[in-house]
Amino acid sequence: MSILVTGGTGYIGSHTCVEFIEKGQEIIVLDNLCNSKVEVLDHIKTITGIKPKFYEIDLLDREGVKRVFEENDIDCVIHFAGLKAVGESVAKPMEYYRNNIVGTLNLVDEMRAHNCFKLVFSSSATVYGKPASVPIREDFPLSTTNPYGTTKLYIEQILKDLCVADKRFSVVLLRYFNPIGAHDSGLIGDNPNGIPNNLMPYVTRVAKGILPHLNVFGNDYETEDGTGVRDYIHVLDLAAGHYAALKALSEPGVSIYNLGTGNGCSVLDIIHTFECVNGIKIPYCIAERRPGDIAECYADATKAEVELGWKATRGLDEMCASAWNFEKNA
Ligand code: NAD
Ligand code: WQD
Repeated sequence: MSILVTGGTGYIGSHTCVEFIEKGQEIIVLDNLCNSKVEVLDHIKTITGIKPKFYEIDLLDREGVKRVFEENDIDCVIHFAGLKAVGESVAKPMEYYRNNIVGTLNLVDEMRAHNCFKLVFSSSATVYGKPASVPIREDFPLSTTNPYGTTKLYIEQILKDLCVADKRFSVVLLRYFNPIGAHDSGLIGDNPNGIPNNLMPYVTRVAKGILPHLNVFGNDYETEDGTGVRDYIHVLDLAAGHYAALKALSEPGVSIYNLGTGNGCSVLDIIHTFECVNGIKIPYCIAERRPGDIAECYADATKAEVELGWKATRGLDEMCASAWNFEKNA
């Protein structure tokens, strides 16, 4: 029996492939390579000794998805594939709704047609919108502030409705907080195209001299140092969280887990830790707040610990060191 990993050549997907292969699982990767490179598969092989079977297929290509299920005995799907840039989703909402939602519908329809009923879905802390308080628990109210977030919210709802209607399905919704860092080999990591939107890839490109300085979006929030506070989680801890989530797939219905550390960390904390751990100065300027940003967002990660036995173990030092180790080799 195999595990299908959609979006498996992407940032989180590639680290999860490594985790699963190291745990002895047979995986198959599906990706259309719209935001990743095929060489990632060679890097997975260098790290694990195994190159996963790969299908370069778009989830919007229903026949292609069908072929993957026809040619393999797939027991379970880990579904990462999707577009994820918040700003781009505001400019191109139709592309985001089509890619993320129709892609998921095609996938689930083909799963059902081939008697595959176990699914782990990459959701996001973005579904909590502007939370009334922190830390955020899984039962907090849901809302979104941009089309990307709305795709995550709609897909969560679609999968909940599916599980009500078809009791054979077992779905785990994993709400990631802010994944950063990279595999210790420095071979795989976060490598966005163009100017990064997210903090850590921006910092590493400033460190490399590709970008002149970091803009810190606001220092007048009600936080300890005035800059935005987030729950940064090492991508390897996140990958391990997917393996732990397999446990929840033995029960029918939907289970929901936050994957975060439970610790809030400010933009200045990131800059200072990065500088200290890597011995590189990060020039920065205080800029206007970024529209749509919130002051604080961090998880209550108790549920995953209690029910899945999973807990993030890596600290900010390791996240900053591994992110730089990847960028300097990229
Ligand atoms: P990524 O862009 O590195 O990986 C996504 C992969 O999906 C890419 O390799 C891309 O080529 C592929 N893809 C996109 N649309 C596809 C389609 N229609 N058919 C086939 N492949 C397709 O992103 P990531 O950071 O690894 O994120 C993985 C998942 O986790 C996404 O669903 C994202 O929304 C979610 N997520 C990411 C973060 C984050 O900060 N990185 C946070 C929360 C949730
Ligand atoms: C982190 C902090 C910024 C860039 C986004 C998505 C969310 C999820 C994770 C997918 C904030 C500050 C950033 C910069 C800065 N992705 N910042 N200068 O906004 O918490 O979450 O990624 O699901 O949906 O919204 O992450 O890395 O963009 O920002 O000062 O150049 O860094 O203001 O406080 P965010 P981020």
